[in-house]
Amino acid sequence: MKFFVDSADSEAIQELAATGMVDGVTTNPSLVAKSGRDFKELVAEICDMVDGPVSAEVTAIESEAMLKEADELLAIADNVCIKVPLTWDGLKATRALADKGKMVNVTLCFSANQALLAAKAGAAFISPFVGRLDDIGADGMGLIADIRQIYDNYPELETEILVASVRSPEHMRASALIGADVATLPPDVLKSLISHPLTDKGLDAFLADWQKSGQSIA
Ligand code: E4P
Repeated sequence: MKFFVDSADSEAIQELAATGMVDGVTTNPSLVAKSGRDFKELVAEICDMVDGPVSAEVTAIESEAMLKEADELLAIADNVCIKVPLTWDGLKATRALADKGKMVNVTLCFSANQALLAAKAGAAFISPFVGRLDDIGADGMGLIADIRQIYDNYPELETEILVASVRSPEHMRASALIGADVATLPPDVLKSLISHPLTDKGLDAFLADWQKSGQSIA
């Protein structure tokens, strides 16, 4: 399973990249706006830090304009993945980019049929937003299970399921159990995956006992 970081905070991405856990990065216009950074400079910086796909989202709404923006973004680095919204224009742009061998992440997916369309369009990744579905009382992880089954029914569909809008370690556990290909995690959620009180308690006890033994290893 691949771990992406969902962030436009280059320091946080750098810190996590150093753990060896980061297979890619996703950004979106809201995260970029919050960072206050120049978009293209930021994408270039992140692409240098991480070998895997770095999703950079177009903001045009018509396919031709999306493709123009995509050209600008693709010129930044080889690992740029173009992110487009799940609209007919977005799917048209996806097909055009996929035909040129470019990676596309189709975002804002909230239904299994949308995921099927994105796969038919040749998306490298589909991003279903589990947290935003849970927010409205729907079943985010149920959508991931449905998409997994649909894609597995049709092996010719090569799109990877990229679980997005991940809010908790439970989302991550459930994504892994279902067999999602990728999850994109905000830095704080990724960091929280390691936490267990018994790990902390056990380590404290081991270190206290070791100190009592009076030994040292190196
Ligand atoms: C994914 O690509 C999106 O940037 C992200 O996961 C959205 O998460 P949110 O619903 O917490 O804003």
